[in-house]
Amino acid sequence: MNAEQDRNPHAIAIEVEDLNCRYDAEVVLNNITFSVKHNEIFFVAGRSGCGKTTLLRHLVGLLHPFQGRIAYFGRDFTRANATERREFTKSFGVLFQNNALWTDMSLLENVSLPLVLHTQLSRDIRTEIVALKLAQVGLAGYQDRFPRELSGGMQKRAALARALALDPDILFFDEPTAGLDPITAQQIDHLIVQVRETVGATVVVVSHSLSSIFHIADRMILLDPESKGIIASGAPAELVKSSGNPKVIEFLKRDLGD
Ligand SMILES: Nc1ncnc2c1ncn2[C@@H]1O[C@H](COP(=O)(O)OP(=O)(O)OP(=O)(O)O)[C@@H](O)[C@H]1O
Ligand SMILES: [Mg+2]
Repeated sequence: MNAEQDRNPHAIAIEVEDLNCRYDAEVVLNNITFSVKHNEIFFVAGRSGCGKTTLLRHLVGLLHPFQGRIAYFGRDFTRANATERREFTKSFGVLFQNNALWTDMSLLENVSLPLVLHTQLSRDIRTEIVALKLAQVGLAGYQDRFPRELSGGMQKRAALARALALDPDILFFDEPTAGLDPITAQQIDHLIVQVRETVGATVVVVSHSLSSIFHIADRMILLDPESKGIIASGAPAELVKSSGNPKVIEFLKRDLGD
């Protein structure tokens, strides 16, 4: 991020315009338009299968949209060439739905990976950075552990440390609290807020957890599997008060705990 973006708290970090996402002929998302402000915690919510992970894969460049445009800080990501795309993706930190930690690698090796792939830093410096990142997520001293030796919550933290390795401008989390008990889930939520503040990053969280949405989301969009589009967009508390769409009310007013 350049200094100008840093100074402007109202900058738009992500702009998505009329996105259409498909797997071969199957349309998963259509007409997706939204923007995320710099330093915002922005949730992408919706029922299972509505296309949250698909949207995230497009946002981070793992998939290319059939139609539409994605821009970061005013720069077009969709039409960037290979070198530019590498620059963009260097500024992203991603925590995948299944953590995607390498099971036969220690946490040192797992968290080092982005540094090995994207920097020329020496092994010593990488080791220092990994120690710092692990400390940042509450896993100080866990460098030599393997993912299988960690609880689910600790694995999420380790994956978060890896996502933080390159000091990203934008963090993407896919279901960071899924499968965790409520207390551990809340700790992860706190960690996300803490990271937003300390790193100064913009955060996109894919989740259908109401508890997380109402605790930490600044704004959200709600995706709908039937229309394949966005059926609500705004601050969660406002949506509860003002949305007249029964699907939105049903989603946001269901029992807490999932
Ligand atoms: N690689 C793929 N090839 C073809 N279809 C896919 C692929 N990945 C996902 N889909 C389909 O796209 C739709 C959206 O899936 P996606 O994984 O994005 O949903 P989701 O909202 O993340 O669901 P969940 O909450 O269960 O993680 C589903 O119908 C799914 O079957
Ligand atoms: Mg998913």
